[in-house]
Amino acid sequence: MNASDFVIRRPDDWHLHLRDGAMLRAVTGHTSAHFARAIIMPNLVPPVVATADAAAYRDRILEAIPDGDDFTPLMTLYLTETTDPDDLAAGAASGLITAVKLYPAGATTNSDSGVRDVERVQPVLERMAEIGLPLLVHGEVTDPDVDIFDREAVFIERVLDPMRRRVPGLRVVMEHVTTADGVDYVSSADDTIAATITTHHLIINRNALLAGGIRPHYYCLPVAKRERHRLALRAAATSGNPKFFNGTDSAPHLATDKESACGCAGIFTAPNTLSCLAHVFEEENALDRLEAFLSLSGPRFYGVAPNEGRTRFFKSETPLQVPEKISVQNDDVVVFDPGFPLFWHTEPINAGAFDR
Ligand code: NCD
Ligand code: ZN
Repeated sequence: MNASDFVIRRPDDWHLHLRDGAMLRAVTGHTSAHFARAIIMPNLVPPVVATADAAAYRDRILEAIPDGDDFTPLMTLYLTETTDPDDLAAGAASGLITAVKLYPAGATTNSDSGVRDVERVQPVLERMAEIGLPLLVHGEVTDPDVDIFDREAVFIERVLDPMRRRVPGLRVVMEHVTTADGVDYVSSADDTIAATITTHHLIINRNALLAGGIRPHYYCLPVAKRERHRLALRAAATSGNPKFFNGTDSAPHLATDKESACGCAGIFTAPNTLSCLAHVFEEENALDRLEAFLSLSGPRFYGVAPNEGRTRFFKSETPLQVPEKISVQNDDVVVFDPGFPLFWHTEPINAGAFDR
């Protein structure tokens, strides 16, 4: 492999927020330019709870894809305490529904309709285990007595592990894992569990958010943790272990909603995520494992083939020009600033054009 110019299978994003309306139309092209498929998060207002909602949302996404881009949205349902297992199973059987998302009520942006007591969704989880439909978990407890930096570790102990014992065979993705505790739990468990890792959690720790002034554009949930956790995430992402794969959690919000006395959580990384990841993998001497993280391990967990298209990565002396922000309506969405120039560029190569 040439260390400054190489080709991998076209990547997928296994955790993405596209929103709706004007925001959907503004951000979709920033993902479809780089990714063949993405798992679409269902936390709209109101959330995507039934198969019919997901079908309508999918149509709106398809309309927002710029002409010529080859992109498939993989739809999810938002699990509530009243989710109908038959509707979910029918949605999965039709091929429309790829996974179901568990948000503990109140854990993050637009999660008010989430699950308060996981035991109440036991019948739905059993049905999912039976049909092999993955559960994607936002792994944080919402107990106000638990420190926000400990909420992921406590979730594993109080919710995730007991739930996996109660529903053997349930396939689970621990979304946007942010701690060494999460990495250890997933690494040491059986093959029914995997984890996504975001771009920004590989790059920033909590100092980026809080040192020298509060920086709302580095605020997301789960919140960035201390440096030792970032290093554990880097080790996991670049290890080649197929349990860890790319889920950007690119989560656009209007700048005015983030630059506020109560700013909302979410970092918009879609435009520069591939360059950021190549930078990180190069720093870790792991460019030869970038394809596993971006393009092979996710499909393997979800039981689908990797993409036929290819993406070329090449390093240039000219830094990548990424806009600082994109405009939406009369406002902006600020693009993630990794804090260093990006020299990795990418270009898609169509399926069939490259003979591997
Ligand atoms: C996400 C959002 O904005 O919808 N925010 C975030 O900080 N990641 C919700 C989520 O994935 O937790
Ligand atoms: Zn998310």
